[in-house]
Amino acid sequence: MKNIALIGCGRISGKHLESISQLKNDLKLVAVCDIVKERAKDAGEKYGVDWYTDYQKMLECDDIDVVSICTPSGLHPEHGIAAAKRGIHVVAEKPMAITLEGADQLIHTCDQEKVQLFVVKQNRLNTTMQLLKRAVDKNRFGKIYMIQSNVFWQRPQSYYDMTKWRGTWEFDGGSFMNQASHYVDGIQWLIGPVESVIAETATLARHIETEDTGSAILKFRNGVIGTINVTMLTYPKNFEGSITILGEKGTVKVGGIAVNHIDKWEFEEYDDDDRLIEESNYNPPNIYGLGHLPYYQNVIAALKGETEADTDGRSGRKSLELIIAIYKSAQTGKKVALPLKL
Ligand SMILES: NC(=O)c1ccc[n+]([C@@H]2O[C@H](COP(=O)([O-])OP(=O)(O)OC[C@H]3O[C@@H](n4cnc5c(N)ncnc54)[C@H](O)[C@@H]3O)[C@@H](O)[C@H]2O)c1
Repeated sequence: MKNIALIGCGRISGKHLESISQLKNDLKLVAVCDIVKERAKDAGEKYGVDWYTDYQKMLECDDIDVVSICTPSGLHPEHGIAAAKRGIHVVAEKPMAITLEGADQLIHTCDQEKVQLFVVKQNRLNTTMQLLKRAVDKNRFGKIYMIQSNVFWQRPQSYYDMTKWRGTWEFDGGSFMNQASHYVDGIQWLIGPVESVIAETATLARHIETEDTGSAILKFRNGVIGTINVTMLTYPKNFEGSITILGEKGTVKVGGIAVNHIDKWEFEEYDDDDRLIEESNYNPPNIYGLGHLPYYQNVIAALKGETEADTDGRSGRKSLELIIAIYKSAQTGKKVALPLKL
């Protein structure tokens, strides 16, 4: 049994707290924290645990083995490092940081303190994405030519106005860093390392510092050409969150609003997985999907030493590096090669 605490009782925290409460045999929620007193108190009272408004105090006072970090993205390294230094394992929401320096400090501290670092990439665990990954791993596509991801969602101005950190370079990043980060992660998880990127981004309608819209063209080391198109301005609501792979012997589009529906699944050769298409489709209650529960199941198994982390710090860093390369290209107008030089 591991004692777990959570920092940041905002929108995504509910997914964490629900998942933790479903895993009672392995995880015991002991404390929650938010700088907004009512949020900390509400969550603490709902789950019957200690609540704090100062995370340092929480880390000092409670007996904690694992901490989940659900604060604004730019604060993840600070909060993760404070926990790691007390020998506490870290589950960081995505993105793990918004700079590579922040990510590296977090990874380094967790290594030094011999604690595990998990970065939440729950979309990889969608039944649809797992099927697609298996098809790639079984080489069912033959030579893969192209991968495309579209994130055509809607975030009204009121979403950005809800809290000060949204749409800022210091704490959030733009639509690539926040909303599309699972998709950037997904395509490099499926295809492999990216060699170079060219991108355009723009702030077309929202009053924010960062981009609400952008496109990137990627060249993967294995020759595959990829594109990612992202906008938070889709009229009138979230329309598509998809990944399409086009190969020599197969074409697949995992679409729906958030890669929750297989729109196209066609291969030259039959595989028993072909019979699982219908049952892999699901209707998520929201775009966060259903992946937090299986994500925590992996955290538990990894902490018991039974398996590897689904997404550890180094794996989480890869998509962060790609997003930063996209930003660098958009800012300079130049093609950017990976890995980035720090
Ligand atoms: N995995 C996913 O699909 C997914 C979905 C949504 C959000 N997220 C990530 O989760 C994080 C939080 O997003 P959100 O939408 O829940 O934001 P939010 O603004 O709703 O919640 C953040 C909470 O952190 C609190 N906070 C800020 N500074 C703090 C501090 N120093 N100590 C304690 N609490 C503090 C805020 O008061 C707020 O309640 C972001 O990194 C975001 O990218 C991930």
